[in-house]
Amino acid sequence: MTKNKIYIETYGCQMNLADTEVVLGIMKNKGFELAENAEDSNVILLNTCSVRDNAEQRIYGRLGNLKKIKQKKPYTIIGILGCMAERLKRELIEDKKIVDLVVGPDEYRRLPEFIDDAFSGIKGIGVKLSRTETYDDILPYREEGLSAWLSVMRGCDKFCTFCVVPFTRGRERSRSLNSIVDEIKILSQKGFKEITLLGQNVNSYRDDNNDFADLLAASASVDNSIRIRFTTSHPQDLSDKLLFTIAGHSNICNYIHLPLQSGSNRILELMNRTYTVEHYLALIEKARQIIPGVSFSTDIISGFPTETYEDHVMTLDIMQKVKYDGAYMFKYSPREGTKAYRMEDDVPEEVKAKRLNEIIDLQQQISFEVNQKLIGSIEPVLVEGASKKSNQFLAGKTDTNKVVVFEKTNNIKPGDYVKTKIFRVTSATLFGELIEILPGKNKINLTA
Ligand code: 5AD
Ligand code: SF4
Repeated sequence: MTKNKIYIETYGCQMNLADTEVVLGIMKNKGFELAENAEDSNVILLNTCSVRDNAEQRIYGRLGNLKKIKQKKPYTIIGILGCMAERLKRELIEDKKIVDLVVGPDEYRRLPEFIDDAFSGIKGIGVKLSRTETYDDILPYREEGLSAWLSVMRGCDKFCTFCVVPFTRGRERSRSLNSIVDEIKILSQKGFKEITLLGQNVNSYRDDNNDFADLLAASASVDNSIRIRFTTSHPQDLSDKLLFTIAGHSNICNYIHLPLQSGSNRILELMNRTYTVEHYLALIEKARQIIPGVSFSTDIISGFPTETYEDHVMTLDIMQKVKYDGAYMFKYSPREGTKAYRMEDDVPEEVKAKRLNEIIDLQQQISFEVNQKLIGSIEPVLVEGASKKSNQFLAGKTDTNKVVVFEKTNNIKPGDYVKTKIFRVTSATLFGELIEILPGKNKINLTA
């Protein structure tokens, strides 16, 4: 009998990438092989995102393409996983005839069962949310590589009024610290060099008496040659202890993703973000004192209900004050079921777009300005491989998550740490000259 072959396409955030690896772990244990592409598989799963309407539209578009595969090979199973599965439930199966199964983020253990049923022609829906599921006993299936995502908690209890995540991913729950440390040990043995701890709001991580700072410290202590990153931090919960922990470990990256969303206190309140601009700025200031050279990125939404031109200018003003190294910027998209959905979406589309463009333009200028200050500085880089534009050049990232490109030499391979001196920058890339290769595995002082 030929083996069943599975193919998963992942949309949306890093959490979904990590979940796809959990799903692959589950399916490999059941004897499934991984297919390289949709055409070569008999089970096609889309791990979906609902955070904005355009994410969902892309997935509907993809389902349209998959129809052709199903027409050619009617026994192909097509399944929807992730946030769209959770949000739309039965509707997906009823409206899209080609969909055989719909499984939400807390029911992946039952996937083999749903797939078996689908092979017998029974369509299945598994969308119960759990208060306890963390998949902490499942080893995710990962391709070999340097960087790994590791989810340390699931769900979100913040209920920002624009956000569908608390409805699609359920209540907040943390994985045990020991299971996370054990997984990092495995990743270390496999040669991974960078691990990003993931959660919707990692700062509320808790396992008995351990908080997120304890988890970070424990993670960083496993292998000093592995860089530890984390995302996402909510500005209300970022503790001093966490800042000191970052500062105290050379292999915890000096980089914090700290979503602002809006620079107007009135809008922040309507968003239920639970902090003010003043609190946010004070936090940035404090982080910069405790962690010299720390870099920041953020998320910004333009055109939230009732946002005026003055509110928008306040956002631009905060961006100027903070001088983010990078930003993810979005137009507000109303999501059914959220509190903001009941507010009128009263900022016209063209105004949202114009404001978003202003935000993007300003951030580009700021990124360039911030990067220019790095000319002449020495940056330690974890080498990832050939640069995107030329294989005569290598590329890697700084501790602060910036891409550095430098000329290739034969004695450097992916996974090495090198020191570079920056001589030219754009808003997105630093160009450096190789100074030296930092000595082998353990005990590298990454900030040297
Ligand atoms: N519309 C636009 N952006 C959104 N985000 C979350 N929900 C919405 C929405 N309804 C953005 C926020 C969040 C990021 C992951 O996505 O900025 O931080
Ligand atoms: Fe959504 Fe807010 Fe939770 Fe982030 S913190 S996932 S934006 S509800």
